[in-house]
Amino acid sequence: FIFHSIFCSYLLNSHFRNHLFHVVPELETVGLTGAKLACGEGGCGACTVMVSTCDPGSQHIRHYAVNSCLTPICSVHGKAVITTEGIGNSTTRLHPVQERIVKFNGSQCGFCTPGFVMSMYSLLRSNPEPNQQELSEAFQGNLCRCTGYRGIIEGYQTFCTSLLQVLKDLFKCIKCCFVFFQMKPLDPTQEPIFPPELLAL
Ligand code: FES
Ligand code: FES
Repeated sequence: FIFHSIFCSYLLNSHFRNHLFHVVPELETVGLTGAKLACGEGGCGACTVMVSTCDPGSQHIRHYAVNSCLTPICSVHGKAVITTEGIGNSTTRLHPVQERIVKFNGSQCGFCTPGFVMSMYSLLRSNPEPNQQELSEAFQGNLCRCTGYRGIIEGYQTFCTSLLQVLKDLFKCIKCCFVFFQMKPLDPTQEPIFPPELLAL
């Protein structure tokens, strides 16, 4: 019994948990360092990635954001995992989700940024025209200690359906207005497809 208790507490130790069974440490080992292992407990969203899964019956593909620090490796068998590296980069082409957080100064130290990017990206893959409420809900699990959230929210509000309200807010600020007309549009047809080889699983 004593051995069992010691072993269980060992399993629950966050170091052990984070480094042996979950997605984010494995991403690091293959050189994908965008998703960050920070709290390791599902509390900060720095490790957010998008998981895509295909329903074998309806062939409907569902996309959702997960905390990869809490996602067991075995749970993503047959699913696609996309990190911020998979949607764009500063060398070839920034994705509109990455570009808007940059242009609205929504990143300072940048530690939380890949998590915000992937929460927003996952929302847009399921719902290309979210409203303000859906936007706020998508970021419930993401924390930022630097920006005060204003730049992040202002940047991502530009994806909302209430474009009139967004424009009204933007026109309060000449700089934001200027930035708005320089932004790349979202083009859902250019997004990565669900890997066909996973459809057969
Ligand atoms: Fe904080 Fe995963 S590292 S939620
Ligand atoms: Fe530093 Fe968000 S930019 S934590």
